[in-house]
Amino acid sequence: MQAKRSADPIITRPGPSRRFCVAPMMDWTDRHYRYFARLVSRHALLYTEMVTSGAVLKGDRERLLGFDVAEHPLALQLGGSNASELAQCATIAEEYGYAEVNLNVGCPSDRVQNNLIGACLMAHPHLVAEAVAAMRDACSLPVTVKHRIGINGRDSYEQLGDFVETVHKAGCETFIVHARIAILEGLSPKENREIPPLRYEVVHQLKRDFPQLEIIINGGLVDIETIRTELELVDGTMVGREAYHNPYLLADVDRLLFGDDAPVLSRLDVLRAMRPYIARHLASGGQMHHVTRHMLGLFQGLPGARHFRRQLSSEIHRRQDPLGLFDELISEMSARLEQRDCPA
Ligand SMILES: Cc1cc2nc3c(=O)[nH]c(=O)nc-3n(C[C@H](O)[C@H](O)[C@H](O)COP(=O)(O)O)c2cc1C
Repeated sequence: MQAKRSADPIITRPGPSRRFCVAPMMDWTDRHYRYFARLVSRHALLYTEMVTSGAVLKGDRERLLGFDVAEHPLALQLGGSNASELAQCATIAEEYGYAEVNLNVGCPSDRVQNNLIGACLMAHPHLVAEAVAAMRDACSLPVTVKHRIGINGRDSYEQLGDFVETVHKAGCETFIVHARIAILEGLSPKENREIPPLRYEVVHQLKRDFPQLEIIINGGLVDIETIRTELELVDGTMVGREAYHNPYLLADVDRLLFGDDAPVLSRLDVLRAMRPYIARHLASGGQMHHVTRHMLGLFQGLPGARHFRRQLSSEIHRRQDPLGLFDELISEMSARLEQRDCPA
């Protein structure tokens, strides 16, 4: 019978627990989404969008890296392959107070491939190893790698094992594995998240072959029951699209995956708690939809979900007083849910 390692509630590793992570997603997991997600789960480990090393070193650093302490535990995902640049970024990540620094070896986009960033690096394990070693030397944060199970032309299990072993020797202990290959020519990034089949068994095999490593499984996980089953085979889970489109999924994470029975905010309380955050954002010159575009799926599956989504995606642009609309929505959603006697 298979030993149940990771079903134990607490993994005794330094750094944040990765039993449940919300994936890095460009344009989606910005600081507004993360603030919102954190209201629903205290324990989920959140990741930033990928930030390239060049952008960190030459761009508007505060805009790219700034976050609210309430977002913790929070990991920074970097894109790049230049070891010395990535090392500087790792130092900066530590100064900013991130809990982990992660290297993206999974993004299949042409744009990043041309700069030797993302999934194409799976063909260059020694380059990734060099980068990881430099990042580890430059900071005391856990340095983790997020990658695919392969890329076209390099998709055997042996090659995957070689990649993991080489990068592990450079000091990486945690591998976040998107359980499908990336096809580097001919598919868009979106297609590369849908067309190559999911192969969880490859990730399970990796855990069996490298039991000392922390292996986090990613790709296509959409419900807590499956996640619990996966946690019997690997050390942690990462959820992307479902955590974005159906954010209240996170409401079960603390209790069912971390054994924390503290009360969870209802959906309406999440809305109420977002109000002062939105008001601050407006006062600093921002627009309400920057924040609320991430909240459209909050009521998914409940009465009024479509109304909520429509008001926040189109009506919002017609209103002079966006906060007034937000207040009306709180009252409307509250009435709709009470009428149907639904848990808010
Ligand atoms: C809009 C979008 C943007 C993404 N951006 C990134 C990124 O910046 N870095 C990264 O490693 N993966 C990125 N991904 C991939 C996700 O992190 C994740 O690996 C993938 O969506 C599979 O997980 P899921 O099936 O739970 O969504 C992105 C995915 C989406 C949908």
